[in-house]
Amino acid sequence: MPHNLLKGKKGIIFGALNDSSLAWKIAEKCYAEGAQLVLTNAPIALRMGEINKLSEYCGNAPIIPADVTSMDDLKNLFTKSMEHFGSQVDFVLHAVGMSMNIRKHNHYSELDYELQHKTYDISAMSLHRVCQTAYQLDAIAEWGSIVALSYIAAQRVFPDYNEMADAKALLESIARSFGYHYGIKNKVRINTVSQSPTRTTAGNGVKGFEGFISYAEQMSPLGNASAEECADYCVTLFSDYTRLVTMQNLFHDGGFSFTGISHAVIDQMEK
Ligand code: NAI
Repeated sequence: MPHNLLKGKKGIIFGALNDSSLAWKIAEKCYAEGAQLVLTNAPIALRMGEINKLSEYCGNAPIIPADVTSMDDLKNLFTKSMEHFGSQVDFVLHAVGMSMNIRKHNHYSELDYELQHKTYDISAMSLHRVCQTAYQLDAIAEWGSIVALSYIAAQRVFPDYNEMADAKALLESIARSFGYHYGIKNKVRINTVSQSPTRTTAGNGVKGFEGFISYAEQMSPLGNASAEECADYCVTLFSDYTRLVTMQNLFHDGGFSFTGISHAVIDQMEK
């Protein structure tokens, strides 16, 4: 049940590709909680047209194309969003990821470095680009909030997560480093949410993903966090109830990150 937690707030949502995207669910919840939204994705992703349905649901939210590796696109996005809202932006969701080497089925010990560059640019440096663009345009209001989505492979080895593990480590580091500067400048907070494995287009690209999901489910005292629950958590991080939380990587994973072993897994091993 909505609580109007984002009443009067204006946000930009990156990364809603289809209705299984984490960003899609987060946009729906933000709208239900009273926010006004601008939706964005890479031009090629927008061509699929699915995002129009989300826009309609969210009160005909404008859709502004932006490739996160293009500074011109990002400047245009923030400028047009402020024109649309008639004010600065209160929150930004960065839900963007792509591994070029995983797509090519390149093993971690045989990475193509050009592709790796692209992976880092799209999946991690893009957070710096988003923050720097907003910072320079003074596009985010005081006490604004930026959230990017991460995964625990930034801290622990999940071999098939491949180069994305390193991209996520960089993403989390950028949230910390930029969180310092943006906090000082304008009381803007920046955090990453480290989400349980979730069935989405990006998630399904990871080899052995179903195994990942069921292992995590058995290792989490509360079970895996769903996309809807991720959306609820992000709403709180965009709301005024978390204004002093910044530069954190916040695990939203049902307790997976701090569980060494579970009885469910012990039972499996003893079979
Ligand atoms: P998704 O495939 O629905 O979303 C990924 C989005 O990134 C897509 O909308 C895609 O168009 C966008 N994107 C790719 N290249 C882009 C570019 N150059 N410019 C702009 N946008 C671009 O998948 P999902 O899972 O919702 O991914 C969202 C975020 O959540 C990603 O950062 C992912 O790593 C993260 N995450 C996902 C988990 C999962 O198990 N699905 C778990 C933890 C984190």
